[in-house]
Amino acid sequence: MSNVKFLSGENVPLEMHKVRMVQRVNLLPVEERLQCMKEAGFNTFLLKNRDIFLDMLTDSGVNAMSENQYAAMLQADDSYAGSETFYRLEAVLQDMFGMKYFLPAHQGRACENILAQILVKPGSVALMNYHFTTTKAHISMMGGQIEEIVGAEGFKIQSDAPFKGDIDIDKLNEAIKRLGKDKISFVRIEAGTNLIGGQPVSMDNMREVSRICRQEGITLVYDASLLADNLYFIKVRDQAYKDIEIKDIVREIASLMDIIYFSARKLGAARGGGILVSDEELFLKMRELVPLYEGFLTYGGMSVREMEAMAVGLKETLDVDVISQTPIFVEALCNELAAKGMPVVMPPGGLGCHVDALQFCPHVPQTQYSAGALAAALFIASGVRSMERGTLSEQRNEDGSERLAELELIRIAYPKRVFTLSQTKYTADRLDWLYKHRELIGGLEFVEEPKVLRFFFGRLKPIGDWPEKLVAQFRKDFGDSL
Ligand code: F0G
Repeated sequence: MSNVKFLSGENVPLEMHKVRMVQRVNLLPVEERLQCMKEAGFNTFLLKNRDIFLDMLTDSGVNAMSENQYAAMLQADDSYAGSETFYRLEAVLQDMFGMKYFLPAHQGRACENILAQILVKPGSVALMNYHFTTTKAHISMMGGQIEEIVGAEGFKIQSDAPFKGDIDIDKLNEAIKRLGKDKISFVRIEAGTNLIGGQPVSMDNMREVSRICRQEGITLVYDASLLADNLYFIKVRDQAYKDIEIKDIVREIASLMDIIYFSARKLGAARGGGILVSDEELFLKMRELVPLYEGFLTYGGMSVREMEAMAVGLKETLDVDVISQTPIFVEALCNELAAKGMPVVMPPGGLGCHVDALQFCPHVPQTQYSAGALAAALFIASGVRSMERGTLSEQRNEDGSERLAELELIRIAYPKRVFTLSQTKYTADRLDWLYKHRELIGGLEFVEEPKVLRFFFGRLKPIGDWPEKLVAQFRKDFGDSL
């Protein structure tokens, strides 16, 4: 947000845009919300949008686009090969990151597929601050493993550390020594570390990791999907960057990396993805896979209209007023929940507000998917769709045993420039009610459990009749309110 002070001294997240197109949303009565949850197998991924009031599942592909992005879509050049649109997008990316080559892909995980196929050998280990679900799945499918080396602060729900996504340098050195550099497929830094609460990585940390990787000859990969939030945090939390322009911060980050990839469903507020690299040999190896999995090199599975929107969206990412919008709303919700005594990940990250299910409902065992249960309960209580980011989002160990997540969270995501302050207050109010009746929330168990990325399609059922009790309490407390 620009420097705007309120006479009251209040810290209000102020929109630096106006809304010129809207979408009607429905708030169903609580009994119907329960019915929808049952039909969705108590998995918020399986809800239908028409039954949802505020869709705070994710920011992926659902960010509000600017008028300039829509305008750019009209000038898209539709051709299978050699599209002008591709060259426009390529030029924006080369300018933004200062890297020589750009490979288009249809979304972030498609980039991960290509990277894993080129870099991961069976038995190799990828070191990273923290995994993302799709990243880990692609590495595992190639017979590789991952090792997470985020600092200890990253796992603390409440912390004062401004950059909880930082890699622990001692752990990095120790892992290199123990494994030997030939066993390490790559080191990966994830901007705005998703699964530990959207927590940023500091420039100092990136610089040090890069120095070590270069010294050892290990490829350093940067997942820039959540770069926008991370840029904002570098700007406001690192004194050294207070007066540095965003475009220069991006260039500095890029200069430290060997490969950068991103989901443009997040970065650039469109739908698509891509890989940037300067090394010609790596580029040529990865290039072979693009026509195989994605499409010809000048569209990579993306619609040219999306590519035009992405090019403009990427340029807009260099504007602080644009990238501040998500973090300041996330902060507003986090602060409101924390003030009411609820356990939220602090300091606030980007992407969304993260609530700790283990503290919210300590009576629900983690093996009964406490975060999944809390996400279901929140939908029943409010029509707000959040996402489980805990044990359900993990894959079972190879022996079939459950891998309990380090953090058992629900994520209440803020798609960029979509939701308002009153909607934020509504969400806080219903969570407050839920917290007061948290003993009513019970556990879940699987009815159908897919082997890979089970959280997407898995179906569960409540253990006992706790959802019905929650609905009865809601009626008691809220009368005929929706
Ligand atoms: N990396 C990160 C850090 C992500 O957050 C995501 C997606 C991906 C890679 C994969 O990109 O979806 O375009 O294939 N995150 C979404 C989310 C799904 O809801 O947080 P994708």
